[in-house]
Amino acid sequence: MNREDFEMLKQDIVYFDNSATTLKPKAVVDVINDYYTRYTSNAHRGDYKTSLKVDTMYESTREKVKTFINAKSSSEIVFTSGTTDSLNMVVFGFAKNVLNKGDEVVITKTEHASNVLPWLELEDEIGIKVKYAPLDENLKLQSEGLKEVITPKTKIVSIAHVTNTIGDVRDLEIIGKFLKEKGIYFVVDAAQSAGHRKIDVDKMNIDFLAFSGHKMLGPTGIGVLYGKKELLDKMRPMKYGGGMNTFFESDGSREYKDVPFRFEAGTQNIEGVIGLGTAIDYLNNVGLEIIEKHEHELRTYLISKLKEIENVEVLNPNSDAGNVLFNIKEVFPQDTAVFLDHYNICVRAGNHCAKLLKDELGIKNTCRISLYLYNTKEEIDRLIEALKNSKNIFEVVI
Ligand code: ALA
Repeated sequence: MNREDFEMLKQDIVYFDNSATTLKPKAVVDVINDYYTRYTSNAHRGDYKTSLKVDTMYESTREKVKTFINAKSSSEIVFTSGTTDSLNMVVFGFAKNVLNKGDEVVITKTEHASNVLPWLELEDEIGIKVKYAPLDENLKLQSEGLKEVITPKTKIVSIAHVTNTIGDVRDLEIIGKFLKEKGIYFVVDAAQSAGHRKIDVDKMNIDFLAFSGHKMLGPTGIGVLYGKKELLDKMRPMKYGGGMNTFFESDGSREYKDVPFRFEAGTQNIEGVIGLGTAIDYLNNVGLEIIEKHEHELRTYLISKLKEIENVEVLNPNSDAGNVLFNIKEVFPQDTAVFLDHYNICVRAGNHCAKLLKDELGIKNTCRISLYLYNTKEEIDRLIEALKNSKNIFEVVI
C-alpha cells in the first residue's frame, strides 16, 4: 500500500472516519475519469464500440465481485446504490413475500439503522415480530446468545458482519452453519467488513449479503446485493422500467429478464460499477489479510495510547475491528470532534446511525475513530498529542 496513491492524503489531514466513507485511490478516480472522457456510453443498450466496451467493463466488475465474496455465479450479484438499498430490497422484495404474520426476524441492538428500520416497517405492514438477540458484557453477539432467541417461528436472522460502533466481528461461519441446519435465512450487512476482511458467502452459508462501494475505496452511490440464485428468483423487483424486461404488450402481458438484470431497471451507476471493479483490484493487490493485520496493529496501539490519557474514556476497549469509541470526560462528543478538527483530524461524533446502542451502552453519543489501510501510528500519535491538550478544549472550540 502506497499512501501516495491517495490524493486526499497530500493535504495536511488525518482521516479517521473510514467507517463513514473511505478515501479513493488515484486508480479509482482515473478509471471514472476515463469513462467520462474516453468512452461514455450507456450499458447493455448499444451496438457500437464504446458501448460494448462499457458492457465489458460493467460485467467484468460483476465477475470481480463474485470472486471477491466467493459466490457461485455472477448472476447472484446485483448492483444497487449501496448497503441501505440492498437491505431494503431484501426486506421489501424478498422477506415481504415469504414471511407471514407472527414470523420472527432476529436482529441486535447494535445494528445500523438500515438493518433495523426496514424490519420495523415490515413489522407494521405484515405483522412479523422483530426480536433482539442478547449481547455479551462487551456488547458483542455470541452464537450462544443468538440461539437463545431462536424459536420455531424464527425465519430470518439479519446482522452486521462487523458493527459500526462496537467493532464486534461476528463469527459468521458458526452462525451460518447453525442457521442453515435450522432452515433460517441468513442476511448479512457487510458495510463495515467488505474491503477489511475476507467474506466467503459459501463457507459462511450467507443467503443475502449487502455492502457499499464507498466504504471499500470505491465510489459513492454503488453497492452490491448478493443473493443465492434460488432466493433472488423469488425476490420481486423494487423498480420497474427499461433494461429489466424482455417484452410488454398493451394487454398487460409482460416478461422480466432473469436475475440479476431484472433488478437493475433504468440506467445504472455505470461509472460507479467500473470504479468498484478498480477498487476491488486495488484491495486484492494489497491483500485483505494484510489490511486486517494492519488494522489490528493500529487499533491495539490506539487503544493503549488512549488509555494513557486521564480524561479520555474508551468505550469499546475490546473492539475486534478498526472502530474505537471514546469520549473526553464531561465533554459533548461533537465538541470533541470540532476540537480535533482544529488539528485537521477527522473523526465522527454522534450515535453513528446505531440509535439502539444507547440502550446497551448507556451513553447516547460518542466519538468514533475508524481506521483503514492507509492510516499510520504517526497519525495516531498526532491524535494523542491533540487529545492531551484537551484540557483547554473550550478555549479552542468556543
Ligand atoms: N454508516 C456509516 C457510519 O457508520 C455512515 O458512519
